[in-house]
Amino acid sequence: MGQVGLFYGSSTGKTEAVAYQMKDLFDKAKPGLVDIANIGSTTPEQFLGYQYLICGIPTWNTGQLQDDWAIFVPKLKGKDMKGKKVAIFGLGDQNGYGFNFLDAVGTLADDLMDCGAQLWGMWSTKEYQFNESKAQVEDLFLGLGVDEEGQSERTSARLQAWVAQIVKEFEV
Ligand SMILES: Cc1cc2nc3c(=O)[nH]c(=O)nc-3n(C[C@H](O)[C@H](O)[C@H](O)COP(=O)(O)O)c2cc1C
Repeated sequence: MGQVGLFYGSSTGKTEAVAYQMKDLFDKAKPGLVDIANIGSTTPEQFLGYQYLICGIPTWNTGQLQDDWAIFVPKLKGKDMKGKKVAIFGLGDQNGYGFNFLDAVGTLADDLMDCGAQLWGMWSTKEYQFNESKAQVEDLFLGLGVDEEGQSERTSARLQAWVAQIVKEFEV
């Protein structure tokens, strides 16, 4: 078992594809560090078995958690995540959903921090154009933002930079 669990939910496959690209980058940096799984087939015990967690989540239905995450998150209620380091990446569409861009990242971040988790992986909002986001705190997102509809040409560079950032911040 690796040290870091990378869990994703994905309704039309985009977050899944990005999650596997990210896993390849981690494998290059630190072979064997990261295990990957779909949150839709993960138990809370499996999730909480990791000290370091990466969560991949798209926003769906105008500001909502992706379905598998929406089913999973309530199962964490009352669980203790103190001392765990967590980082989130989110997929969203800034042109189509500019008033709810990456909202699920903000909601999931709040839910995990409510369980005591430490949140890492903040990312500048500078390169994005949107009106409102629950993921935004001042000039940062509470995780990496990926937009495969509007900015797919930037995804690869974003993933590389964020993976390097996470390896440093997690100190793994
Ligand atoms: C019906 C619908 C609602 C969506 N709502 C949002 C939204 O509120 N905010 C956002 O940033 N993206 C929204 N999106 C864009 C998705 O997050 C984006 O397509 C994402 O890449 C899908 O990831 P998946 O294929 O892993 O499920 C929406 C897309 C659809 C089709």
